Amino acid sequence: MTDAPNDAADDAIGLNRGLTNYGDKDFARYLRLSMARSMGLSSSLLKKPVIGIAATYSEFNNCHRGVPDLVEAVKRGVLAAGGLPREFPTISLGEPFLNPTALVFRNLMAMDTEEMVRGQPMDAVVLVGGCDKTVPAQLMGAISADVPAIQVVTGPMSTGRWRGERLGACTDCRRFWGKFRAGEIDQDTVDEIEGNLATTAGTCAVMGTASTMASLAEALGMMLPGTAAIPAVHADRIRSAEASGTAAMMLATQKLRPSQIVTEKAVENALRVLLAIGGSTNAIIHLTAIAGRAGIKVDLNRLNVLSDETPVLVDLKPTGPFYMEDLYAAGGIGAVLRELRPMLHLDVMTVTGQTLGERLDAEPGYVDRAVVRAREEPLQPQGGLVALFGSLAPRGAILKRAAADPALFENEGRAVVFTSLEDLAARIDDPDLDVTAEDFLVLQNAGPLSPSGMPEAGYLPIPGKLARAGVKDMVRISDARMSGTAYGTIVLHVAPDAASGGPLALVRNGDRIRLSVQNRSIELLVEEAELARRRADQPDTSAKAKRGYARLYREQVLQADEGCDLAFLRADPDA
Ligand code: FES
Ligand code: MG
Repeated sequence: MTDAPNDAADDAIGLNRGLTNYGDKDFARYLRLSMARSMGLSSSLLKKPVIGIAATYSEFNNCHRGVPDLVEAVKRGVLAAGGLPREFPTISLGEPFLNPTALVFRNLMAMDTEEMVRGQPMDAVVLVGGCDKTVPAQLMGAISADVPAIQVVTGPMSTGRWRGERLGACTDCRRFWGKFRAGEIDQDTVDEIEGNLATTAGTCAVMGTASTMASLAEALGMMLPGTAAIPAVHADRIRSAEASGTAAMMLATQKLRPSQIVTEKAVENALRVLLAIGGSTNAIIHLTAIAGRAGIKVDLNRLNVLSDETPVLVDLKPTGPFYMEDLYAAGGIGAVLRELRPMLHLDVMTVTGQTLGERLDAEPGYVDRAVVRAREEPLQPQGGLVALFGSLAPRGAILKRAAADPALFENEGRAVVFTSLEDLAARIDDPDLDVTAEDFLVLQNAGPLSPSGMPEAGYLPIPGKLARAGVKDMVRISDARMSGTAYGTIVLHVAPDAASGGPLALVRNGDRIRLSVQNRSIELLVEEAELARRRADQPDTSAKAKRGYARLYREQVLQADEGCDLAFLRADPDA
């Protein structure tokens, strides 16, 4: 293995690339071509540029059910443009099926993608993915390999109908489960709904993490214009895959690499889009990791500046009434980009070979204002996400202010601490729990270095006795993540996390914590001498792993502010 792109050593094309040379390179070529011909390929096809197709179909990944059709379409596009398509498998990450979390395996998939793209003879690669973690993993791998690459996503699910209601995963999943827990609907009804929440191929139908990452891939310039929001089952989805195969041939010819596309300016454009679409908090972690592969730092202070300037324009669930299929019909991410145009860097390159400015000049201007608002009449004048800093989170934390109760933003409270997910589950509904609505709920040991691998557990439930008394929101603080579908005054991604010995680990029941969204601060109001005493007695709660990937992860995983990548995989591992 080498750190250099696979054609760095020679200018060979297609199957002539990266031949191992044990003294007789011609024999290596002869051997490779005879094996290639055993696949029934004509010798004229074997002389063409090779376009790899990273395929992620898996029966453990519902969101990727449409991948085989997309791969076929990509192949058509490659063949029509005069290339040889070669599909190859990589691992696939289906969000609901991975333990402890799909996030832990994102970096493994990124390594798989990087090494297979670099190690096999291909002039460009088409990355076919979709679920929350697969798109960031593929982009991370492709950037590190720096072989010409283009992203194709599986596309969002279409909504279903149930008793006159329009349903889509998975904001509606939570809503009905809440009703079931409250006794408003019975077991038979909830079982019936289970079969109607997710009814087509594709990714979750709302602006959750998968939709957010598809939007950011387009904003970064790594995906064909107008393709992020195309529904999974729409014919346009298949056509766009064919067009992506053709585009990959152009990328191969021009040798246009991810390093020329994913630049500091492109990352800033993506951050703007993240804010304007009211995207998932998880996307901050993924974009940070993607940028990190290109040697670019996503600075949370810069996020705060952009957040203050960038309006929320898109009205999708979980905060609005619409679904991704509506965003597609309303003009897609192109409509958002056109609206943000004065704020964007227009000279950035994209996978079409055009700059973003050239793309926007060439696009028709249709937009449905019900779904994508005008800049002058935004849903909210400022972006939904802010970063907080302070003695509780020296390296930052994230709050989705768009989904929180402003009445709780300038606030001091008493900490009610849960030391782990197990502790939370055991005590949150205990009628004797010493808690009031003014307290701050604190969850420790749910960060990247914890045994749970940073699950979407940051949406701590309101303690049972308070929920029954009608309390809807409380300040909740953790080193965990949160699903894009949740609501509340929830401070996430506290860094450093508790398991790495961050100040979050030192919070005890009864401590005072001060939150000021206005000052972007979160402070633990405990004397340093007392914290030093606690630190000396602090047990090691980090994940333990003797072997395998779990050990590599434990030894190398970075904190949330560095995208939870593995340290040695960054562009400059010593930085
Ligand atoms: Fe894959 Fe929701 S489970 S996008
Ligand atoms: Mg999700």
